[in-house]
Amino acid sequence: MTTDGPRTRLPAAVDPTVLLTAADLRRSLELDVREGLTAPPRWLPPKYFYDDRGSRLFDRITRLPEYYPTRTEHSILVASAAEIARLSGAEVLLELGSGSSEKTRILLDALAAGSLTGYVPVDVSAGALREAIAGLAHDYPDLPVYGVVADFDLHLHRLPAPGRRLVALLGGTLGNYPPAQRGVFLQRLAASMHVGETLLLGLDLVKDPARLVAAYDDADGVTAEFNRNVLSVLNRELGADFDPLRFAHVALWDVEREWIEMRLRADSPMTVRVPALGLDLSLGAGEEIRTEISAKFRPEVAEGELEDAGLHPEGWWTDPAGDFALVLARR
Ligand code: AVJ
Repeated sequence: MTTDGPRTRLPAAVDPTVLLTAADLRRSLELDVREGLTAPPRWLPPKYFYDDRGSRLFDRITRLPEYYPTRTEHSILVASAAEIARLSGAEVLLELGSGSSEKTRILLDALAAGSLTGYVPVDVSAGALREAIAGLAHDYPDLPVYGVVADFDLHLHRLPAPGRRLVALLGGTLGNYPPAQRGVFLQRLAASMHVGETLLLGLDLVKDPARLVAAYDDADGVTAEFNRNVLSVLNRELGADFDPLRFAHVALWDVEREWIEMRLRADSPMTVRVPALGLDLSLGAGEEIRTEISAKFRPEVAEGELEDAGLHPEGWWTDPAGDFALVLARR
């Protein structure tokens, strides 16, 4: 295999490199919450779901019978990792939003059959990253791991490239961007990649709306807890006085835009104070706060968006039912 050789060399360390400090995260929380909660209609960005409690709730979601994406993507990876690794020709796996680095092992094992020289997990959560790095150090004692605490909306250009990379964005996370922002993100991502490097993208596909809604409104109410948790984050971080139990969890399928939308609906009129922002909000009965969109894809459309960003699809893999897809695209 030919490679362009390493571009940057960094010492592998147990301690992640911090591009996003707690103060940075705090500042963007303040800006985002002020903008979102004062807008008509109100909204909050999904990235604040994932404090420690939110990350644990999300892990539970991934094991729910209704939530098919994680296990389906896992099965596709198991079936295709060897081929993906071979096509990518990568020396380094860089994972955006690595979280618990669960699916990572399948890719690392497949890449290790080639010339794997390092793993770069990137996450906004320093805690999740440290845990993931510790687990990997145990299971892959010889693998250099360069963890980075970063926001991939801000720091793509500063992520390490200690060899030719396979950049993984799994789980359907791309679907959290509204379409316009999604295009910008893909352009930026492509610009941050070296020619010849590849992107492995996990995409949840358009399917029966009943199954989609069930995946975001499970019978045990775990997703409802996850959704309400963002209000607890605002209470803790900004001194807000939301009563999460006065909000109903709403998950709906937007037929036109082909996305799942999660909302929190106030059960009665209320005022909410957000002291850190000097905000006093009045919510009407039934008023909703949009907390997440999760777009579902059609392969032809996704292919066009990737091409538009200068990322050329070279392989598609799906499960037998066609519920989820992985696409490998080369810069
Ligand atoms: C982690 C963004 C892929 O959109 O399906 C799960 C988050 N939200 N249940 C998704 C989520 C509600 C998940 N992603």
